[in-house]
Amino acid sequence: MAKTIAFVRSPGPSFNEAISSNLKNQPIDIKRACLQHESYISALKEIGLDVISLPSADEYPDAPFVEDTTVVFDHIALACPNKEKSRRGEGPSIHKEIKKHITMKALPPSANLDGGDVLNTEEKIFVGISSRTNLEAVNSLAKFTTKPVIPVKVIRGLHLKTSVSYIGNNIIVLDPSSIETTSLRTFKWIETNGHAANCLAIGNIVLISKGCTEEADKIRLKGFKTREVDISEFEKADGGLTCLSIILKKI
Ligand code: GLY
Repeated sequence: MAKTIAFVRSPGPSFNEAISSNLKNQPIDIKRACLQHESYISALKEIGLDVISLPSADEYPDAPFVEDTTVVFDHIALACPNKEKSRRGEGPSIHKEIKKHITMKALPPSANLDGGDVLNTEEKIFVGISSRTNLEAVNSLAKFTTKPVIPVKVIRGLHLKTSVSYIGNNIIVLDPSSIETTSLRTFKWIETNGHAANCLAIGNIVLISKGCTEEADKIRLKGFKTREVDISEFEKADGGLTCLSIILKKI
């Protein structure tokens, strides 16, 4: 049976130069970041994913946040035109690997898009309008899917998925103070004001940031299993659990 693939990239020696909105949280401990990244990979493997791990890309400090380079829909992957200059070169080496598994297309350069702004659910795709993603991206993505593509204003935080994750069964985990929530009212909510808002659901298992025990309890009460993963060094650079992988479900 075809397995789900996770593409990841290890942090390199320049990871402590990654963009951060919270400089007082620096410095990043690179050795610790590498160990945390290995634990993240182990968690994905234990869930049953095939992990394709790319070597670190030292000229791109934010390169471990691979999610921002690529959006994956059912039958196609889309290369993201990243707005942030220091991140624009991250894509090609990872796209070369992804192309071995799925057709890839590029979005027009007038679109600015980070994958962290794309929240894909069964019925609809939500796109954060953030400091990294513009309305042109919404229109461009809509050409590659039959689902409605809906813009959501990001009020605070880097990306839409910094503040909301979809875990399945019509449930989202979210920080409602950080995004415009009108279009998300049809979901059942698990509310948080912390790192739990970015969690990674693979089937019935939800990876959640270490220490988010209250939110993990609430997720389990909804019938999911949870696993806490420590990614504190990545959180210093505004990253979360979804940021560290591109998930490709083989269908
Ligand atoms: N540090 C993640 C980003 O700014 O893109």
